Amino acid sequence: MAASRLPRFTRTERTLHWVHASAFLVLLGSGLALYLPSLAELIGRRPLLKDIHVYTAAAWAAALALVVLAGNRRALRATAREVNLFDANDRRWLRGNKAPQGRLNAGQKLNTVVTAAFAILFAVTGTLLWLGERDTRFRFAQTILIHDWLTLASLVLFLGHLYLAVIQPTTRHALNGMTRGWVDADWARRHHATWAADFDDAVTSREASRSPAP
Ligand code: HEM
Ligand code: HEM
Repeated sequence: MAASRLPRFTRTERTLHWVHASAFLVLLGSGLALYLPSLAELIGRRPLLKDIHVYTAAAWAAALALVVLAGNRRALRATAREVNLFDANDRRWLRGNKAPQGRLNAGQKLNTVVTAAFAILFAVTGTLLWLGERDTRFRFAQTILIHDWLTLASLVLFLGHLYLAVIQPTTRHALNGMTRGWVDADWARRHHATWAADFDDAVTSREASRSPAP
């Protein structure tokens, strides 16, 4: 009999996701308040907002490093390999055609790559902004512009992500995978057919090896 629940994200992946998401949201909120002059004036506490922003950034980097060091690194390496591999079905999916998808569909793989790239760019430009206030050699005209554009692009990505995760009825079951770690097998067969089939094949071959020889 096929399993009715499939394990979707390891504890390390889930911890990494929620640590990243919580720090990111504090950085987004404090960053937007620094960016919008009216909001900064309304709150009237620019230095405090800036401290929150910079200390959260440092805590964010430290927490991510801790999760990677203390967590299941083998699983993270496997996820990185999975995300970097775009097969023929992924390319078909990205062109707007129906194609069976793995554990992460091609859009989710792209989202992961973009999220990681943005995190690095945020960290580099943010550090330059911080250093630039202390030493003019680190001041570049484009740094704040890049930091701002990354913020706007991340906001759009995040709103789309949130819509799929909590509102869109066909996809919101995924939240179970990111909170409890498992999803319903039927949902997985509909949305991630290649991944679900791997489980079904594993169960079938296990059962076949258990049944007595004819
Ligand atoms: C390692 C990560 C980060 C570091 C070190 C960092 C650092 C900084 C620093 C030093 C500033 C200048 C504050 C000032 O106005 O005096 C700043 C501004 C800002 N940050 Fe970040 N930041 C980081 C990540 C983020 C993230 C993830 C976001 C958004 C999602 C963000 C959005 C903003 C925005 C919108 C501003 C205001 C820029 C402006 O005034 O035009 N930052 N950041
Ligand atoms: C309250 C906010 C958030 C919720 C409810 C949420 C929910 C989820 C869920 C349910 C998944 C798994 C999708 C699936 O199994 O099919 C996921 C994956 C993911 N999340 Fe979030 N998330 C949130 C915030 C964020 C933020 C702020 C970021 C990055 C800045 C982020 C980045 C990712 C990435 C890269 C993945 C893997 C690829 C993907 O599924 O798109 N998430 N999230």
